[in-house]
Amino acid sequence: MAGGNDTPFKIEVSTRIKRLPPYLFARINALKAAKRRAGHDVIDLGMGNPIDPSPDFVVEKLTQAAHDARNHRYSVSVGLYNLRREAAMKYKRRYGVELDPETEVVATIGSKEGFSHLMLALLGAGDTVVVGDPAYPIHMYAVALAGGNVISVPLGNDEAFLARIEHVLKNLYPRPKLLIFNYPHNPSAMTVEPLFYEQVVALATKYGVLVISDFAYGETCFDGYHAPSFLATPGAKEVGVEFTTMSKPYNMAGWRVGFCCGNSEMVRALSTIKGYYDYGHFAPIQVASILALRQGDDFVRRQADVYQKRRDVLVAGLRKLGWHVESPRASMFVWAKVAEKHLMGQGTIDFSLRLLEEADVAVAPGRGFGENGEGYVRIALVENDLRIKQALRQMDACLNGRKKHQRPSNLAGRPAEDPGHDESTVHDQTNIIGG
Ligand SMILES: Cc1ncc(COP(=O)(O)O)c(C=O)c1O
Repeated sequence: MAGGNDTPFKIEVSTRIKRLPPYLFARINALKAAKRRAGHDVIDLGMGNPIDPSPDFVVEKLTQAAHDARNHRYSVSVGLYNLRREAAMKYKRRYGVELDPETEVVATIGSKEGFSHLMLALLGAGDTVVVGDPAYPIHMYAVALAGGNVISVPLGNDEAFLARIEHVLKNLYPRPKLLIFNYPHNPSAMTVEPLFYEQVVALATKYGVLVISDFAYGETCFDGYHAPSFLATPGAKEVGVEFTTMSKPYNMAGWRVGFCCGNSEMVRALSTIKGYYDYGHFAPIQVASILALRQGDDFVRRQADVYQKRRDVLVAGLRKLGWHVESPRASMFVWAKVAEKHLMGQGTIDFSLRLLEEADVAVAPGRGFGENGEGYVRIALVENDLRIKQALRQMDACLNGRKKHQRPSNLAGRPAEDPGHDESTVHDQTNIIGG
């Protein structure tokens, strides 16, 4: 089961938990935790958990708002109106998309919560959902938890991929209810152009299916690429919604603020579920998030530049190792095909365990994201340039048998202010590969 612990339950748990697929990152998470406890300085490029700080002005606003006792009460489950309005204004400014904050925007506790609860709002036993393989794991788990079934289609970003989906829509009975897209993609970093979404809207309209776009990396783009929003496509709001998050662009992963925008009936379905389960974020988080959305455009651009620079360091280093690696134009990941000579006949789960054991470097094995991820590893751009270079040296020593580079201390290359992966921090318990 998922959750980083594969031990069977000693109590009778629900079918929805029992039907979860095996959690393929469990062994690697366990080894990482054990190594840390043993005092190893593991360079963790496994999870897409930003290490850089949230914007100062946002933290400042949070502190101020926390001192106001009026903000200490329950908030509203769909998010403060002003937060939803600010999210709508950002869509207008960045993508030219008009949204009604009352009916077409709901704030979520991160996009993962929103996505999961939307599955619960839309699916029941026997419903099916089309998801590309490989996929961000929650795109499959949330469907399973809601009682639905996943139809995996080999991932692509082109007409051939859409043709595979159309084949499923035409031939499967009952017809799938939902199509899930995620560009820029996790884990593969695949991207699309606006024409792709025009074809998606046409397909969804023709077959009467709903669409969800997970746009978590929409603002983490490089080399002048501008990832298109699904909602900017004519007709998109008739057939679907899009999830955005403050986690990645604003380095606010721990704040848990995301949005679901678009089709008013889908937004209403999610809002209904949330209204029963939840009272919304702590209001100061929402107040500070409003400011981030209003004044954070430069911050977001600068942060994308940071990832671009790390990407260049990592891609160059991996190519030097002898790997064939495409340089991604968006996302926080490099999706790297492991050289055959380094795989040595192993699958990527065993390969990643070996890398962790022998090189103290954690990466996410592609197999954990689906069968089509086999042969690849996902490397997250979440350490600074020096640490990435250090990781590459350790990988080189482990894989190519070169002399191990001596590190001056247990914290080589880590900025002094970053307590990131010390044993004593909460980070250690929460840094689960797969995210
Ligand atoms: C594709 C994708 N969607 C959603 C999320 C979750 O983001 P949030 O922090 O908004 O829940 C992630 C996090 O890694 C992700 O990679």
